[in-house]
Amino acid sequence: MTDSLTSTLTDYYDAVPYDSHPFPQTSMEHLESLAFLFGLDAPSPANARVLELGCAAGGNLSPFAARHPDSRSLGVDLSSVQVAQGQVAIGHTGLSNIELRAFNIAEIDASFGQFDYIVCHGVYSWVPGPVQDAILRVCSENLAPNGVAYISYNVYPGWKAREIVRDAMILRGGPRDTPDEKLSYARGMLEFLEQSARADSVLKKTLDETMPIVRGSNSSYLLHEFLEPCNAPCYFKEFVARASAHGLAYLADAEPSTMFVQNYGEKVREPLLRECGGSQVMMEQYLDFLVNRTFRQTLLVKQDRAPDIRYRLDTERMRALSYAGVFSAEDGGPFTLDSQPQPCNAMRNLKVTLRLPLHKATAQVLDERYPASVPVDALLAEVSARTGEPRAVVEAPVLAMLEELLILGAVRIRRTPVQAAAVIDALPRAQDAVRKAPGLALEAGATAGTCNLWHELVALSLLERCLLPLLDGAHTHEALAEHLAAEARAERLRFIKDEKPLTDENGLREFTQQQVALALRDLRRKGLLAA
Ligand SMILES: C[S@@+](CC[C@H](N)C(=O)[O-])C[C@H]1O[C@@H](n2cnc3c(N)ncnc32)[C@H](O)[C@@H]1O
Repeated sequence: MTDSLTSTLTDYYDAVPYDSHPFPQTSMEHLESLAFLFGLDAPSPANARVLELGCAAGGNLSPFAARHPDSRSLGVDLSSVQVAQGQVAIGHTGLSNIELRAFNIAEIDASFGQFDYIVCHGVYSWVPGPVQDAILRVCSENLAPNGVAYISYNVYPGWKAREIVRDAMILRGGPRDTPDEKLSYARGMLEFLEQSARADSVLKKTLDETMPIVRGSNSSYLLHEFLEPCNAPCYFKEFVARASAHGLAYLADAEPSTMFVQNYGEKVREPLLRECGGSQVMMEQYLDFLVNRTFRQTLLVKQDRAPDIRYRLDTERMRALSYAGVFSAEDGGPFTLDSQPQPCNAMRNLKVTLRLPLHKATAQVLDERYPASVPVDALLAEVSARTGEPRAVVEAPVLAMLEELLILGAVRIRRTPVQAAAVIDALPRAQDAVRKAPGLALEAGATAGTCNLWHELVALSLLERCLLPLLDGAHTHEALAEHLAAEARAERLRFIKDEKPLTDENGLREFTQQQVALALRDLRRKGLLAA
């Protein structure tokens, strides 16, 4: 069954393929960890069965499949053009545990089997109502009993204002023939409105709020978000009610810091706790109004698991997780293990002030090991060694600190530690799939990115691309430097010093050794070196 809107969408996605890349918030390791944090045991990603709905060219699914050879992944997408592109890319990597199929979500049935994780990112709001229902149906019928589903979607109230901008863009850009024309006419409309809007009007306020997003986004995003045939935001509470009609219950948000009322200030906390009477969904709906939220990434589970969900964090579960974080003192200096308050920068541009030696030691250990994640036992042992305090003394305050950082969103968690290198090995090793990625070849273009062990897209310099294929655990730093020197001699790489190409052997040797050291430092920090 293919209705006319579905064929319009197919044509649209065939003509304007989406940039297909990893989204860290959808990774199974992340979903497993969040389920665990909130009281549920979810299947291990290592051998999970995974389904991605609307997978485009599989850029989100294939790095997961590469990390877990014993898992099985299936991605479906309506656009045969994108699926074919993905199949070619998967063919290059040689992965045999992932399949992409050109298929309509609405036609998935029980014969597809059960999946431990079902991911549907950037699809739900952008498809007609019957396909939205099919997404929820599949997330219910095809989900294993202890599985986790992830669906992202646009929400009100934030999208109320954006809809005005979208409607104006469609009015002028919609009737044009090609995507480029649509975008160009739509941009023209916005320029006209910006120049003509009255200073005190709702339109002016709306444009002030939305134009930075329009200006800061690439064409692919704008076409899909603002000019696509479908974009139907809803309120969070409505989404949860629809999911409930399909036998699914709300578990968590993929960005858990948004769920904790204490992050919204004292004035909000007390009245909301009183008003919402323990309903997490109602409280988060109130918070959506407060922050004018535009987008949600919701984790769902089967309804019969709802009684086990706990939003009050449990110390035993906190203790069973491993943690990762980045911390640097604001003044650029080292952490001093004394009681002098030290303001510092943490991940996601968060600021925290560390006051106790054991807090600073915790931040120090996490930062040194990052991007490896540190199990609580190892963290406690190290903090105890650095502060000279017995483990029994540091345990409670370190766990309390981790809880605070977690609520704030300043640390990441994993149920199974991330196997990223905490130090640079004498024989450094990157994941096979990363080393063999076809985009790494220098002739593939000036820019290239790859997926790291945290399921993030990271950019690579030309030098890093040159070295990555050799990071197989069999090349010493010296051998890597010699490879760079040989590339320079063959004029495939050119090193410039004092504005002149570096050609003398001694200079080349010293320079390439330095470059290898710097590149390995950066590759480790980017999460591309395996433990
Ligand atoms: C905005 S893109 C998102 C792609 C990808 N999940 C991402 O976030 O990068 C939406 C995708 O959903 C696919 N899609 C839309 N309707 C579909 C349907 N009924 N069945 C399968 N895929 C569909 C489109 O072809 C497109 O690739």
